[in-house]
Amino acid sequence: MEGHRVFETQDGSRSLFSERFGVSYHSKYGAWQETQHVFVEAGLRYQSIDKDSISVLDIGFGTGLNCIASLFFAFQQNMSLEYVGLEAFPVPAKTLADLDYPSILDWDEDQTGLYHQMQAFDWDGKPQHLKTFQKNISLSVAKRKQRFEELSDLEQYDVIYYDAFAPEAQPELWTVEMFERMYNALKPSGALVTYCAKGQVKRNMKAVGFSVERLKGPPGKREMTRAMKETFE
Ligand SMILES: C[S@@+](CC[C@H](N)C(=O)[O-])C[C@H]1O[C@@H](n2cnc3c(N)ncnc32)[C@H](O)[C@@H]1O
Repeated sequence: MEGHRVFETQDGSRSLFSERFGVSYHSKYGAWQETQHVFVEAGLRYQSIDKDSISVLDIGFGTGLNCIASLFFAFQQNMSLEYVGLEAFPVPAKTLADLDYPSILDWDEDQTGLYHQMQAFDWDGKPQHLKTFQKNISLSVAKRKQRFEELSDLEQYDVIYYDAFAPEAQPELWTVEMFERMYNALKPSGALVTYCAKGQVKRNMKAVGFSVERLKGPPGKREMTRAMKETFE
C-alpha cells in the first residue's frame, strides 16, 4: 500500500504515483512544466521583484522537484533563498534514484551538484547551506518531517507553495483551518500559490482573509490560484 510507481508525464519529465493516496505527485501533462509555471513563475518570481533574498515554505516536499527548481531560479538570479520543505512521508532514496531527474532533465554539472547536495540533507528540520560555487549568495534548505496540520510558524515566509494532493484525495488539507495556518505563516505581503482552482477551495481561502486571484494554469490545466495576504484595492 505504501509504494510509489514512477511514470513519465507529457513533457518528458517523470513523476510518482502514490499507492498510499491513489494519486500522482504532479500533473500528468508535465511535472516540470507545472513546477515552473505554478510555483516558480507565479510564486517565486512574482514575489522576488525588488528582493535580494526570499523565503519559501513548500507544502509538501515530495520528490523535491519544486525545491530544486527554486534553487536553480535563485542561483540564476543571484538571489539568496531560505527554503523550508514539510513532508510527513519522505520519498525513499531508491525511488529518487529511479526518477533520475538530473539526466532526464539534462541538467549541467552545477545544477546536478545542487540537486545531490539538497537530496542528501537530513530530515532534521535544520537549515542546511548549499555550496554555491563562486556565487556570493546564501541558499539554504530545511527538510522538516512534519504533518501540515501541525504547522505553527508565524509571519515567516514570502511564498507558500501549496502542493498537497488534490481535495478529492485529501479534503482535510483544503479547509478553512488549514488556510488559516498558511495565512499566519506568511509575512504580511506574502503569497500562496497552488495548482488547485476549485471554487470551494477559493472560498475557504477568502474566509481567512486572503485576496484570491485566478491565473492561467500550466499546459493542460485551465486555471491555477494565487492568494495574497495583503489585500489589493
Ligand atoms: C502533491 S505531493 C507533493 C509534490 C512535491 N511538491 C514534488 O515536487 O514532488 C503531496 C505530498 O504531501 C505529502 N503528504 C500527504 N499528506 C500529508 C500530511 N498530512 N502532512 C504532511 N505531508 C503530507 C505526500 O507524502 C506528498 O509527498
